[in-house]
Amino acid sequence: MSEHLTVVDHPLVQHKLTLMRDKGTSTASFRQLLREITLLLAYEITREMPLTTRAIETPMEEMEAPILAGKKLALVSILRAGNGMLDGVLELVPSARVGFVGLYRDEETLKPVQYYFKVPEGLDDRLVIVVDPMLATGNSSAAAVDLLKKAGANDIRFLCLLAAPEGVARMKEAHPDVHIVTAALDRELNSKGYIMPGLGDAGDRMFGTK
Ligand code: URA
Repeated sequence: MSEHLTVVDHPLVQHKLTLMRDKGTSTASFRQLLREITLLLAYEITREMPLTTRAIETPMEEMEAPILAGKKLALVSILRAGNGMLDGVLELVPSARVGFVGLYRDEETLKPVQYYFKVPEGLDDRLVIVVDPMLATGNSSAAAVDLLKKAGANDIRFLCLLAAPEGVARMKEAHPDVHIVTAALDRELNSKGYIMPGLGDAGDRMFGTK
């Protein structure tokens, strides 16, 4: 993947995203839609996984058939909202290993601080897909990618539902090698760091905490 950002404009993705944005959508529907949309986005982000071939026999004859070329996948969820995207990707790639990164914002320095980090072994040998529904300021995303690179990851992609231009710019500056796939690029961040028009707090909406 050469460009830095892909916006998936598939009609099903856009339709489901509209339902998710609507403030009247229930927690149960929000969660289900996030799972479905993530599956469609995951289809896009894995589009260029390398293939090889394997000799098989169909009931008709022998053939050299395409098969994934062994590069294993690691999914890394940025807590807590990233967890809502795990099932959608795992439905498509059930054998993926899963890691978690927890970060909070220090209210004095405003910098992200790590409170949890547990990732699969052999990250240097894997395609790493980081999931977090909202790419807002990009600070925690950039920090999570920093940590993953320190842990050896060298082929990282970022999967989100909504991105703000500020977050995309921050990621491009910090990690130009990390391709971002999203369902929409929204207008801007508001003064509290929320994406506009956005969908509100993704964690609260998927877990029903507000
Ligand atoms: N995180 C969210 O959940 N929503 C936003 O709009 C921005 C960050």
